Amino acid sequence: MAERSEQISAVELPSWAQVTQKRLGHIQRVAALVTQWAVALHVSPEERERWVRAASLHDALKDASPELLRELAPDSWGADSLRHGPAAAAMAAREGERDQGVLDAVRYHSVGCARWDDAGRMLYLADFLEGRRRKAGDDREALVQRVPSDPRGVLREVARRRLLLTIRAGHPLLAETTAFWNDLACPGG
Ligand SMILES: [Fe+2]
Ligand SMILES: [Fe+2]
Repeated sequence: MAERSEQISAVELPSWAQVTQKRLGHIQRVAALVTQWAVALHVSPEERERWVRAASLHDALKDASPELLRELAPDSWGADSLRHGPAAAAMAAREGERDQGVLDAVRYHSVGCARWDDAGRMLYLADFLEGRRRKAGDDREALVQRVPSDPRGVLREVARRRLLLTIRAGHPLLAETTAFWNDLACPGG
């Protein structure tokens, strides 16, 4: 547990982040999960650092004002609730982030992206599976444990659940989301 606490405390938010204490907890748990998977998958320290950076950036502006979010991400698929990802990516790029994979992970974290590298995929998984959201009877802990041995299978399952939530809420599926899903659903892919 001590190791996990150190991993959690190691998360650094960007100086421009605007998050509530509750949001900070979510970001820390997402970062802890991607770190856990990076260790289990024996990825390089540089790759692990990319995943953690994507985690620390992804909701960094979730509690920012609508005015700032609109200024940074005027389009955002026409949905206010999806604006914080593109806004954080725009701010991160403005502040010097040059890793396109990390920027795409942040930009598309609410909608999915077929072009993602592992930074985007791991962030998408952790954002859905992180601890505090689990309820009794929830099988998400089993999915968390399965990620190192079957990352694509868990990604497909998480995407399926997130798409179902979107459909049940009556929201349209964006082109990015359907392309992401079609890529995952492709047999042998
Ligand atoms: Fe988010
Ligand atoms: Fe999040």
